[in-house]
Amino acid sequence: MALHPLHTLVEQLKAQPIIFIGGKGGVGKTTTAAALASYYASQQQKTLIVSTDPAHSLGDVLNTQLNNAKTAISPYLDAIELNPDVIVDEHFAQVERTIKSYANPDMMPKIREHLRLSKSAPGAQEAAMLESMCQHLVEAADAGYENIIFDTAPTGHTLRLLVLPEMMGAWTDGLLAQQRRQAKLRSVATHLDSHNQKSSQTNDYQKNNVANPFAAKKSDRWEQAVSVLEKRKQLFRQAGLLLHDRTQTAIVLVMTADVLPLAETKRAIEQLEESKLTPAAIVINQLIAPTQSDEFWLRRAERQQHLMQDIEKNFSKYPLYPIYLQQTDVRGTEALSALLE
Ligand SMILES: Nc1ncnc2c1ncn2[C@@H]1O[C@H](COP(=O)(O)OP(=O)(O)OP(=O)(O)O)[C@@H](O)[C@H]1O
Ligand SMILES: [Mg+2]
Repeated sequence: MALHPLHTLVEQLKAQPIIFIGGKGGVGKTTTAAALASYYASQQQKTLIVSTDPAHSLGDVLNTQLNNAKTAISPYLDAIELNPDVIVDEHFAQVERTIKSYANPDMMPKIREHLRLSKSAPGAQEAAMLESMCQHLVEAADAGYENIIFDTAPTGHTLRLLVLPEMMGAWTDGLLAQQRRQAKLRSVATHLDSHNQKSSQTNDYQKNNVANPFAAKKSDRWEQAVSVLEKRKQLFRQAGLLLHDRTQTAIVLVMTADVLPLAETKRAIEQLEESKLTPAAIVINQLIAPTQSDEFWLRRAERQQHLMQDIEKNFSKYPLYPIYLQQTDVRGTEALSALLE
């Protein structure tokens, strides 16, 4: 069988500090991500693990309650569990603050209602989660982490997140171009207006030789709004570059030796490759050792061996690593990192 021993996965990923773990629901993404993170930490490499799974399974696996802020699991391991509800609330609160700084105050109740409804619109959680993920991705290197591991949500969802930065970048570009045109028109209008005023009569501000506070504020507000959008665009661009940089980032797909995960992994790889995101490795989880005395387990093992032939044929381009089925769920950093030893 062309399977590589699991401990050599660490060897293969040595050069890449950023690792994304993807795969179908329930195949063992969180277990694999936490095992890698625990192993790096046991080697005294400062590691951050970020989960986007709302079911709190990373906290369960690490025997700790986690949240949106970093929790120190050990001196070398920090963990974050991004809670979509909290992130969406924070995201929309920030959007409201930005709008408030340049919108007509009379409009605010309507705008607030619109934002409240937008929170539950399709894609809102993804967009907010994406921004938060990108922030962690971009900040992790500066924060001194040697490894950052993302335990991502199931495949289709993850893929959309991975290609969103480019889409959002284009969207922000369009918006900025439109706003700039408007600003230009406004400045021409202001110029004409002051020209007219000069030729006809002087207004109160001019009479008293003070600047119009509203006009000044308006351009400030405009600058603020532009700077928020520019910052977001910059963040997505940076994150997109990191994601596509094969010397920085590795994508590891997890699957089990079953028919549906095989089909799903094939689709996931096609989609990833379309976005120029080639996976670095595939982990085959919950494998049953081929020598079994019990008839039931022997049959299960034979069935997996049969599927392994298909898996090897389909994924011959990628290194395959096995994780064997354990007697119990793997919990705690010691047991997790032991999987990789
Ligand atoms: N090799 C293994 N041996 C025994 N149990 C395992 C193994 N891998 C995973 N499990 C168990 O299977 C369940 C699902 O694993 P895990 O939570 O890692 O999957 P996941 O892909 O992250 O799931 P989700 O898509 O829901 O996030 C967990 O209870 C986990 O403890
Ligand atoms: Mg999980």
